[in-house]
Amino acid sequence: MPDESKKILNKSPEKISSMFDEIAPKYDFLNHFFTLNIDKIWRSRIRENLELFDFKKLIILDLAAGTGDLTKELMKLNPDMIYACDISDNMLEILSKKIKSSKVRTVNSSAEELPFTDKAFDVVTVGFGVRNFYNLETSLKEIYRVLDNGGLLVVLDFFKSNTFKAKIFNLYSGKIIPAVGNFLSNSKSKAYSYLNESIENFLTVEEFISITKKLGFHHIKTENNLFEVVNTIYLKK
Ligand SMILES: C[S@@+](CC[C@H](N)C(=O)[O-])C[C@H]1O[C@@H](n2cnc3c(N)ncnc32)[C@H](O)[C@@H]1O
Repeated sequence: MPDESKKILNKSPEKISSMFDEIAPKYDFLNHFFTLNIDKIWRSRIRENLELFDFKKLIILDLAAGTGDLTKELMKLNPDMIYACDISDNMLEILSKKIKSSKVRTVNSSAEELPFTDKAFDVVTVGFGVRNFYNLETSLKEIYRVLDNGGLLVVLDFFKSNTFKAKIFNLYSGKIIPAVGNFLSNSKSKAYSYLNESIENFLTVEEFISITKKLGFHHIKTENNLFEVVNTIYLKK
């Protein structure tokens, strides 16, 4: 049965890329401001978890890489190569200024059609990206295709939750973040209102995992980072 409470959001690549192009100069500042820098811990936890795996070689795809905060953290793993992929040129431009390394290559491409050969990557990470994909299933199939057998997919994002704690968070993300974020970023596209709508209309963790299982992924673990809303999900091909 379709969930009647869910609104259909316009997530066309044109809309999403122009929205992120618009807020790119303020993205990092507002991210750290709204999370009181805790978002840095969520990304470093991913690096710590990946350190526990014994990779013979390490080629990473950081999908929806944006301004590269997660890419930068992943560089500490000393990978052979990281491909930072995104549909927003302005976000990628900031990434390139932030990370100067011959081991990082930026690629403008959508998750729905990845310009990589089958089994090219040992790890795929997606930080706050899956919620924005215009076709989640197609993107997950693409990720599965480009992951090597036994490769890992790590997804960090806001998920819908109906717990009491999540309701408190929803007040913050529904009232304070849009008002302050749209004002400080001077966003004509009301990007920070979209953030809240995209969380409320997204999947629960359980729904997300069930889609990935249907596509062949194995669920390793989920880490609840904040109020059962921000989670990191570890999956294996
Ligand atoms: C909220 S930012 C996250 C950036 C970064 N990963 C982080 O952790 O801060 C989401 C990024 O996803 C990108 N994005 C949205 N839809 C996409 C798609 N279909 N394919 C590739 N990138 C996409 C946006 O352009 C944006 O830069």
